[in-house]
Amino acid sequence: MKTKITNISKIYSWNTELDILDIKSNQEVLIENNKIVKITSKVIDDVDNTIDAEQSILTPGFIDSHTHPIFIGNRADEFKMRLEGKSYQDIKQEGGGILSSIRALRKASFEQLYLSSLENINPFIKYGTTTLEAKSGYGLSLNDEIKSLKVIRKINDDLDIDIIPTFLGAHAVPNEYSADKYVDIICNEMIPQIAEEKLAIFCDVFCEEGYFNIQQSRKILNTAKSYSLVPRLHSDEFKYFGASELASEVGAASSDHLMMINNNGIKALSKSNTVATLLPGTTFFLNKKTYANGRKLIDNQCQVALASDFNPGTCTIRSLSNIMLLAVQNCGLTLDEAFLGVTYNAAKSLLKSDEIGLIEEGYNADIVLWNTKSLNEIIYWYDSEYTKINKIIKNGNLI
Ligand code: NIG
Ligand code: FE
Repeated sequence: MKTKITNISKIYSWNTELDILDIKSNQEVLIENNKIVKITSKVIDDVDNTIDAEQSILTPGFIDSHTHPIFIGNRADEFKMRLEGKSYQDIKQEGGGILSSIRALRKASFEQLYLSSLENINPFIKYGTTTLEAKSGYGLSLNDEIKSLKVIRKINDDLDIDIIPTFLGAHAVPNEYSADKYVDIICNEMIPQIAEEKLAIFCDVFCEEGYFNIQQSRKILNTAKSYSLVPRLHSDEFKYFGASELASEVGAASSDHLMMINNNGIKALSKSNTVATLLPGTTFFLNKKTYANGRKLIDNQCQVALASDFNPGTCTIRSLSNIMLLAVQNCGLTLDEAFLGVTYNAAKSLLKSDEIGLIEEGYNADIVLWNTKSLNEIIYWYDSEYTKINKIIKNGNLI
């Protein structure tokens, strides 16, 4: 089946050779077998199907490389407590935080968790996200983590977008164990079974004071690697902890958050293939003043991606165009760098940069058609996702 997109105003992609934004005008795009096979200034004939872009601009489908959407219920009560002056850490001390989402998820049946997670994930599509990384991590027992990962698998089967599963058993230490004992359970029971059932591609750890220390994180990630799960890491969010050095040591695909990273961490990331992922929605939603210094990371040759970190505790933003806005206003990124952060660099952090993240011949036909005249307008029209997107194409099909 051959489909062409015609009547396009501009195509935005990334020129990976020159490392600059690539803008093409007056082109048509030919899609065959879910892939982009031709981008040309000539009129394409002999197609089965024509998509009229109505003078939209085209970008690659956005890629959200860090989300926690597998949960039930919400934590609006904690949000209110924060408005009244409590910190995220205070709420944790009182037994809330991640552990309150754990209690809710453990009570839920597979079906209830599926429906609630589906409701969490569906809006991402309307915002132009066509590939989503989704973490488990609100179960923290073998059965509840497997339940969460099976929910991800079912939602991936049921929705048009691609959902890439990450095992985040090391999200917090459940009340029933010491941290070391729980790390043993992750390494000896959870990782082997999850790998055996092929339920995850990546393994993540919340490496932070009060959660998992460097030694525990190293042990989990090295075990994950021995079962062919690829490491990624929550690093240096509330306190500098040396987690980015660990990310580069274990060859993590991504080191995320980085609000408190220091020069040593930056140096480690700049010398590695580990993508530095900024989550400015979390800084915003927690009402913190110190955003990750994306400018410094890029000026030191780190590869920077942007993601939402959507989760019930610290960030309920799903729109990557709004995350781009936060990054240009607070992390020192240019508009072009923010675009790169939600497309090609996000694909790199998911080890998929030869398939998604560009509008290029040979790439998946994952394309958003925007009712705007320029890339700038995508972030300028804050809060207008439902009107600024004209059409979304995933794997060559309109969704
Ligand atoms: O990335 N930092 C760890 N995990 C989430 C928060 C999860 C929660 O509070 O439920 C984050 O911000
Ligand atoms: Fe997170």
